[in-house]
Amino acid sequence: MHAYRASLLWFVSGSTALQPHVHFETDGLLVTTTGAGGVEVVHAIGAWSDLKEHYAHVAVQHWPGKVIAPGFVDMHIHYPQVDVIGSPASGLLPWLENYTFPEEKRFAEPAHAAEVATFFVAELLRNGVTTALTFATSSPSSVQALFAQAKAQHLRLITGLCLMDRHAPDFLLHGTQDSLQQTEALIRQWHGVDRLGYAITPRFAPTSTEAQLRGAGELAAQFPDVWIQSHVAENVDEIAWVRELFPAHRSYLQTYAELGLMRQRAVYAHCIHFDDDDRALMRERQTAAAISPTSNLFLGSGFFDYEGAHRMGYLHGLASDVGGGTSFSPFHTMLAAYYVGRTAVQASAQHPAKPGLSLTPPQLWWQHTAGAAQALGLEGQVGNLLPGCEADFIVLNPQATPLLARRTAQARSVEEWLFALIVLGDDRLVEHTHIAYKDGKPVGSVQSAPVLGAALL
Ligand code: GUN
Ligand code: ZN
Repeated sequence: MHAYRASLLWFVSGSTALQPHVHFETDGLLVTTTGAGGVEVVHAIGAWSDLKEHYAHVAVQHWPGKVIAPGFVDMHIHYPQVDVIGSPASGLLPWLENYTFPEEKRFAEPAHAAEVATFFVAELLRNGVTTALTFATSSPSSVQALFAQAKAQHLRLITGLCLMDRHAPDFLLHGTQDSLQQTEALIRQWHGVDRLGYAITPRFAPTSTEAQLRGAGELAAQFPDVWIQSHVAENVDEIAWVRELFPAHRSYLQTYAELGLMRQRAVYAHCIHFDDDDRALMRERQTAAAISPTSNLFLGSGFFDYEGAHRMGYLHGLASDVGGGTSFSPFHTMLAAYYVGRTAVQASAQHPAKPGLSLTPPQLWWQHTAGAAQALGLEGQVGNLLPGCEADFIVLNPQATPLLARRTAQARSVEEWLFALIVLGDDRLVEHTHIAYKDGKPVGSVQSAPVLGAALL
């Protein structure tokens, strides 16, 4: 057993997206044990004064003045796009063509893929992200490199080969059958190894033929506990293109449904330009939206409709979408989600103009932890610190900057305190990231990301 003492923050059971209940324990104790597969899991959580005698035999690691909280869950991020963060474009499609596709070409080179995978995992951990659903490229070496690095760090990470068989430069395209065979081989090699999971990954409808999407859907039926990830309804030009390519379907989302790509553990990034029929389809199929507000603001894609998601009730959570997204930091993503929620959604024929809504700090935090875990089908496993959850946690230092120290000291409630962290926080807040031990011991080492390149000036 291991024990960790600090202030503690977690979501009480019964929390929901609309009503997440944060429990804050000023002087708390988190006790862990070894669970299935040798993974460190939470055994007990509560007040130090209540638990200290019962666990007096366990050595305690003490962080006075610090706060232990669940590790963050990033529902959608592209590891090959680390080096295109902050590349401006007039919209999604020129951004893909001018920056992203040429960059992804480099991942056919295993040494490059390994170097970026190492940086990427270190950067996730530095930012307190302990679970990620991640795009790789269409090159199998990109997938091998990321799984290998995540395994070396005992990380809960899900990725897969990006499927593209048309409408992209030749160097990124596969043969349709080849791509599906490679996907199946990678599922068999990696899915369920340690804490790794596979995601069947058609990039988005425009870069796949119907045959490739259908084949991906067949694999999704054959391997029901494997994830599916893709993009949908992000940008108006993209949507018009899908309408031309797949004219028979009622909507962009419906195309994925018809081809076997909507089910539990399917995760679609963006989901901005939806109508209520799309939202109902998401709910019926228990499919999740990965909301990516910094990306949507940076690429001018639009604003996720939180009111629609709350009203119709479908799974959703937060994502960085690096490198369309501008930050690895969950604090930046939560703040951007707050801005997006505040923004009035434009009037449509179906609905009159609606005022913005104010997502509460617990709602924002939920969407990047326990709510994101629930959306990924990992509820009770990650994203929270209730007994049985895997022991991925972060240690926050509310005094990390002078302004944080000053503002958090004046907070009159847990909500105010959380809001101060969301508004003022970044990687400096995360003093330590703890990844669940394997067989009672730490695995790998959290290196700080290496500093690369020579100064330009
Ligand atoms: N749609 C298809 N590919 C991508 C991508 O790499 N990033 C984003 N934001 N949208 C996409
Ligand atoms: Zn994306």
